[in-house]
Amino acid sequence: MTRKRRRLRKIKLPKINLPKLKVKKKTGPRRRIRKSIIIIPLLVISLIFGLFYVPKMIDNGKLKDLGYSKEEITAIRELKLTKTILDNEWYSDYLAISIRDKSIKTEYIELYLVSSSLSDKEFLLYNRLIDKGYNKEQVLKLFKHLRFFEITPLLVFDYQEDIQVYIDDCIANKETNSEDYFVLSNNYYTHYQDAKPAPDPTNINLLVNKTYYVDASFEPVQIAPLSVQYAAKDLQLSAEAASALAQWCNKAISLKDEITGESPVRFYAVSAYRSYERQETLYNNYVKAMGEEKADAVSARPGFSEHQTGLTVDLAAVGSEGLSAFKDTEAYNWVIANGADFGWILRYPEGKTSITGYDFEPWHYRYIGVDLAKKVVESKLTYDEYWMLYLAPWNDEANTYPKVVENKQEENKQEENITEENITEETQPEENNTEEPNT
Ligand code: DAL
Ligand code: ZN
Repeated sequence: MTRKRRRLRKIKLPKINLPKLKVKKKTGPRRRIRKSIIIIPLLVISLIFGLFYVPKMIDNGKLKDLGYSKEEITAIRELKLTKTILDNEWYSDYLAISIRDKSIKTEYIELYLVSSSLSDKEFLLYNRLIDKGYNKEQVLKLFKHLRFFEITPLLVFDYQEDIQVYIDDCIANKETNSEDYFVLSNNYYTHYQDAKPAPDPTNINLLVNKTYYVDASFEPVQIAPLSVQYAAKDLQLSAEAASALAQWCNKAISLKDEITGESPVRFYAVSAYRSYERQETLYNNYVKAMGEEKADAVSARPGFSEHQTGLTVDLAAVGSEGLSAFKDTEAYNWVIANGADFGWILRYPEGKTSITGYDFEPWHYRYIGVDLAKKVVESKLTYDEYWMLYLAPWNDEANTYPKVVENKQEENKQEENITEENITEETQPEENNTEEPNT
């Protein structure tokens, strides 16, 4: 027994490290603090979510209901247009596309609702119409119902109190009108009403028409004689226009017909610079011969003729019967096709009488410089519209010009003796002009 006990005493039991149990002391306030550490951030997060994401999700839903795609909604947010679009419930396919590709000019956003294609010229036209006195609603209505070429004449026309009448007229003539032909049932241009002096009259781009005139004393810059190679006797133009005419004619002369070896498109100037007094004589002769209304369709009143600028010629083809025959010549076709390359434009085209105020004058060309002439031809606008759209000093304080203070027509009431011979201009060359040029 003793030995057994001894053995038992020798067996060592392994030590077990039991974790010490901590007995938490129940302390009330500390427990509440721990709870709030979890709840407060949760509340803050929920609040942020509630304040920010929920309205955003609601707006997204509304934008989607208006017709916008996910991509467009993202773009609307980036462009900060959400409120504007939702407040006004704006949607159009073109607006959506322009927002998506970020091409939109947001200051014209309403224009995107009524258009299917916009570029700088439309934005400019929008601004010019506003400058002219139309309000935003009127301009948007015009863009909604009319094409560009149907709106641009309004820059030349009188201010239209009732824009709907004009829109209805354009719509009634929609099928026949185009960029090349614009005829309406009513007249919207009161000629010579509110006439103004042409701004910047020494600039080759000056506009002279039935609204803008040059003074009786105005004379062309650097007036120069024209060679009889290109013109009837004793004609003059402003030096730059004279040189451009020479180049134009030289080019035509240099062309050779395969059979005859001669140029098929030779032409020359039968009228060029005309003084105020000369124009007055011509105009008065027309009035006496055909009455004021018909005269006004073919002849400018003194001060209102481009011929006084020294930048204008009337052309005839060599060997054909005067001005009126010009249209049916090969020279006419060549001149029309190549005029802009030499700085010249046809000033009174066919089908644009409502805008220019003159019957078609296939012989009357205006020099405006090569760059501008190319732009005008490309625009398909009359020069009256082009100038009003791109060149007029609208709303430019530095270029503000006064309204007319005198009536040029009242000033000169000199009677002229009318004979068949002195009703010449535009239908026949001027005096001494019947001679063929020395080409
Ligand atoms: N025949 C043009 C319009 C003029 O008299 O100037
Ligand atoms: Zn002319």
